[in-house]
Amino acid sequence: MIQEHEPQATRRPTGGAESSRASRGWWDRNADEYQSEHGSFLGDDRFVWCPEGLDEAEARLLGPAESLRGADVLEVGAGAAQCSRWLLAQGARPVALDLSHRQLQHALRIGAGFPLVEADARALPFADGSFDLACSAFGAVPFVADPVRVFREVRRVLRPGGRWVFSVTHPFRWAFPDEPGPEGLGVSASYFDRIPYVEQDEDGRAVYVEHHRTIGDRVRDVVASGFRLADLVEPEWPAWNSQEWGGWSPLRGNLIPGTAIFVCERSGTGPLDGAT
Ligand SMILES: C[S@@+](CC[C@H](N)C(=O)[O-])C[C@H]1O[C@@H](n2cnc3c(N)ncnc32)[C@H](O)[C@@H]1O
Repeated sequence: MIQEHEPQATRRPTGGAESSRASRGWWDRNADEYQSEHGSFLGDDRFVWCPEGLDEAEARLLGPAESLRGADVLEVGAGAAQCSRWLLAQGARPVALDLSHRQLQHALRIGAGFPLVEADARALPFADGSFDLACSAFGAVPFVADPVRVFREVRRVLRPGGRWVFSVTHPFRWAFPDEPGPEGLGVSASYFDRIPYVEQDEDGRAVYVEHHRTIGDRVRDVVASGFRLADLVEPEWPAWNSQEWGGWSPLRGNLIPGTAIFVCERSGTGPLDGAT
């Protein structure tokens, strides 16, 4: 009988290539379970930013409805491309990119009348200035070791004046156990400890990684990549949402932030202007 080894959770450094390899494997293995668990909350063609349930139809972080019509939009770490399906219905021209083949198969299963691209957000396979907008709902950014590399890639493929809006786990959460109940309310680690969370197999190979940046780190990363930070949204837990999602719950959501959404604008005119 083949014995499956439980991955071991640890904190250790991990670089860009190992993180991408771990993410691809994890999302390929877990896409079926993820979509069956969260697919109905996300909706096949809604744009949900986070487990709090903030919906782009109300939030309008990408800009007013009329600005979406005819816009070329890149969704980074799209998963089953629910957000791109909503964008298409608004008259935009979305392209959904993800590292995981299995996640993109779910996008196909639900139906995609737009391009699906299997690629790493760290090396976007598009020409400079291809898009008017880029967005990501928890896709790629929390899982990469080198977010500035991703942001610079996004900036490169955006046209001048383009917007880049992405949601991530709120950095504040790093200091707490990832539990939805009362045990998730007490500080258990340093907010300032940037050593990544890694699950590894019996040979020490990473099979899941999450990277932490403080709020200040994220702001500096955005600015260093040549963006202007226009807003930082911290969605509050709404009364209608009784759903738990991993460590997200009404109990914690009413007390501490769970999600941070960065609204960034591409500064400069040329592909490299403004990026330091
Ligand atoms: C939490 S899902 C977000 C997708 C969708 N918005 C949702 O809420 O289900 C994270 C996605 O990011 C993708 N991802 C992780 N690292 C990536 C990378 N380096 N490049 C592109 N996609 C990546 C994963 O494959 C996964 O589909």
